[in-house]
Amino acid sequence: RLQSVPSRLCIRACSTNDSLQPQCPSLAFSGANSSTRGWRVMGTLLGLGAVLAYHDHRCRAAEKSSRIYTREEVKSHSSLETRIWVTLGCEVFDVTEFVDLHPGGPSKLMLAAGGPLEPFWALYAVHDQAHVREILAQYKVGELSSEDKAPSTLKTSDPYADDPVRHPALKVNSQRPFNAEPPPELLTENYITPNPIFFTRNHLPVPNLEPETYRLHVVGPPGCQSLSLSLDDLYQFPKHEVTVTLQCAGNRRSEMTQFKEVKGLEWNAGAISTARWAGARLCDVLAKAGHQLRETEAHVCFEGLDSDPTGTAYGASIPLARAMDPEAEVLLAYEMNGQPLPRDHGFPVRVVVPGVVGARHVKWLGKVSVEPEESYSHWQRRDYKGFSPSVDWDTVDFDSAPSIQELPVQSAITEPKDGETVQSGEVTIKGYAWSGGGRAVVRVDVSLDGGLTWQVAELNGEEQRPRKAWAWRLWQLQAPVPAGKKELNIVCKAVDDSYNVQPDSVAPIWNLRGVLSNAWHRVHVRVTP
Ligand code: MTE
Repeated sequence: RLQSVPSRLCIRACSTNDSLQPQCPSLAFSGANSSTRGWRVMGTLLGLGAVLAYHDHRCRAAEKSSRIYTREEVKSHSSLETRIWVTLGCEVFDVTEFVDLHPGGPSKLMLAAGGPLEPFWALYAVHDQAHVREILAQYKVGELSSEDKAPSTLKTSDPYADDPVRHPALKVNSQRPFNAEPPPELLTENYITPNPIFFTRNHLPVPNLEPETYRLHVVGPPGCQSLSLSLDDLYQFPKHEVTVTLQCAGNRRSEMTQFKEVKGLEWNAGAISTARWAGARLCDVLAKAGHQLRETEAHVCFEGLDSDPTGTAYGASIPLARAMDPEAEVLLAYEMNGQPLPRDHGFPVRVVVPGVVGARHVKWLGKVSVEPEESYSHWQRRDYKGFSPSVDWDTVDFDSAPSIQELPVQSAITEPKDGETVQSGEVTIKGYAWSGGGRAVVRVDVSLDGGLTWQVAELNGEEQRPRKAWAWRLWQLQAPVPAGKKELNIVCKAVDDSYNVQPDSVAPIWNLRGVLSNAWHRVHVRVTP
């Protein structure tokens, strides 16, 4: 190998920039006996061999790390079988050997497999340090091709071309419209879900709205003038802040599908997230427009500024009684976790209805009106309703069921994941629990044996206010793994302060749209001996 021409050429090329220059060894040893001279010659030759071998290794590494790859090639390296590659800037790294050494755990690093590290480093800023870059440098295998250095752009003819760039950790259920959930291992990492990984549920392309020209139309009661509010006008109302969990009615739909097919996106247990929202209270804005709570049967209808090719906008409604109740804390929110709303979450203004299904939290809000009837929107009248398990698409009558408002009690396990292997000794189980309508979670029961015996989990996160428990509790349980167990059937169920509990199985709550899926959450794991 040392004789090979490319290798020698490479030594020269590398040495020009190298502080460790190979010394030209002297083979002349005067004044020593022949055997000593022999050993010295041997030693020198070995030393020379080592230096050349070292350079050969460095040159090969340099040769390898100057290879050019496309993003597509990087993307194909996303499992242990294909090796795990990631990029940082224009550099490509093979981190397969590092995965098990990753301080945050292998699963977190695997989220970036086949793609860029930047979005994860932006979320977990602790990575952006010299020593982390040094560790990474050891795994460099090449660079991105020049065409691939710029972020890829979507075609402009595509109605979704103007959609925002999303965080790669999101598990995408549909790209157009964009629907995605955070992976379980990130979902309960923080009590407040970071904005970039908050689950996203869009029915249409994301509108691109200018904050300067944005206006919210609030239709006044008969005889009163309507309001046309700019963002600055909204900022003049008292600013109200509240921590609220948003859950899509289709959260955990995939478990219903396993039982029997349903129509809808395959959400796992991540169509739920929690943020601190700030904005004007809807009751203050409605009062300013001249509305009062005279007509208790009335509804407040919301229209989004996202629309389909026929011009039909997303819409939904809530009862006027909830909207006018200051204690219900319904917001016209312009901030999410201290930031202006991200585009995917309704920039510049959305409705936040604490304790109520996500579908009523209308994003990109354009119009608010008080009507004698519920919104005529498809999403209020022909979707987001629950039915008996025996109703199918031939027999369903959407008018026969009320629209979903407050959601039932819910909980799910986020750690360990289904199919994972856990260590014998002790197992840590984590998850979330929440109930609609401001009902507090009072207990989460966890079973390791499929529901035969139960242990009570520890509840973490913000204390919940009575009747205003708008946000989830995170919970955890550390439990000894029963001796000799080779597998565990882990189950969780939550209890709210009305003593509502989750049903034990999917069958009795199955419905053709796969909504309200809140059966006991079950995870099956193997135990290493
Ligand atoms: N508002 C508009 N204008 N358009 C939408 O598609 N989706 C609704 C609701 N508001 C939607 C909307 C649904 S079904 C849900 S679950 C929540 O937004 C999701 O909010 P998020 O994307 O901020 O998580």
